[in-house]
Amino acid sequence: MGKGGRDRRTSEGSHDALRPSSSQGASQGGSTLALAVAEPETSRAPDVRMHDLEEPPAAAFPPRSRDLSFLRAVIDRRLGLLVPPAASHPAVLHAAMRHILLSPGKRLRPLLTLAAAIQLNASEHAVLDFGCALEMIHASSLIVDDLPCMDDAAMRRAQPTTHVQYGEDVAVLASIGLLSRAFGVAAAAPGVSEHARLDAVAILSMAVGSLGLCGGQYDDLRPSPGRSLAATEDVNRRKTGVLFSAAVEIAGHVAAADETQLGHLKALAGHVGRAYQILDDILDASGSSASLGKDVGKDAHKATVIASLGAPRARKLLSEHLAGALTASKELGPNTDGQEPLRDFMTAAFGELMGPLAP
Ligand code: IPE
Ligand code: IPE
Ligand code: MG
Ligand code: MG
Ligand code: MG
Repeated sequence: MGKGGRDRRTSEGSHDALRPSSSQGASQGGSTLALAVAEPETSRAPDVRMHDLEEPPAAAFPPRSRDLSFLRAVIDRRLGLLVPPAASHPAVLHAAMRHILLSPGKRLRPLLTLAAAIQLNASEHAVLDFGCALEMIHASSLIVDDLPCMDDAAMRRAQPTTHVQYGEDVAVLASIGLLSRAFGVAAAAPGVSEHARLDAVAILSMAVGSLGLCGGQYDDLRPSPGRSLAATEDVNRRKTGVLFSAAVEIAGHVAAADETQLGHLKALAGHVGRAYQILDDILDASGSSASLGKDVGKDAHKATVIASLGAPRARKLLSEHLAGALTASKELGPNTDGQEPLRDFMTAAFGELMGPLAP
């Protein structure tokens, strides 16, 4: 296994604004990785109750800060508070949950939630915990995606995958622990109406379930030889796009968006989700694990857009999706401060690919 993580910049997307500022498990910019060390099982574990973890996010944001790397740091801090400390019993299970959750991912899904809320003039405070719930679901799905019975990956976010570090039994339980906690976090999100919390729980449930991410992952692992491009894009929508869609839908509901605005948000997320999986597949085929911090070549045998179209046409389709997402953001319009944070989010997520699309 290589030791990635020194530079997560890729040849396709720079993600510069999304560089982790601090995290458990990997040093930033250094040549060595400080791998998370599980608490010994014999350590004395404090009794932690869930309500002890519910510190409200008040004062989490300085006045109107919309800088993505700042928002990312806020998300990281909140995530650390929303899951039990690594020392709480069972310590190894909680260490495994924190190992994946707090490791240096890009936090795209919570950032998209925040960006959509800000563009709709809603409070970023109000959607922070929903974004964190999405990141927990995403982290849970990454544990499963990496298991030997799935993509069988050894490295994730520049550190050993959860099952490599802690064993498969702990990894499965950590995934379930994160998934379950995500729904608890959404159900208890502070500063929003009960209605918004119920909506969010229902949206998250649909997104992660058999009609969404689980079903997409199922079909991803069973690539039929002649799968059409449309069918492959539908798998990408379900396995990857649904969490992006959930991010903007939840923000839209909290912001009391009207039907037209919700339509633009959904169009944007549909394009972003499809574009993101094409980019990920391009990087899987042509990137290095040292620069990406995860195994590459794991989807070579899958029914990807690249397998359907070849790399040049896949890139063209990716550009078309990015253009579609930019149009949707423009149609949604800037917020009352003249900002278009959804566009900033896309620049951060897709890096220099956005350059040629600039007006
Ligand atoms: C990886 O997602 C899985 C896909 C859906 C392609 P990310 O590229 O957002 O991974 P992290 O969260 O930054 O690790
Ligand atoms: C994963 O897609 C989508 C998930 C639901 C996690 P990939 O299998 O391509 O993601 P990576 O490349 O392992 O991050
Ligand atoms: Mg996979
Ligand atoms: Mg994978
Ligand atoms: Mg991939």
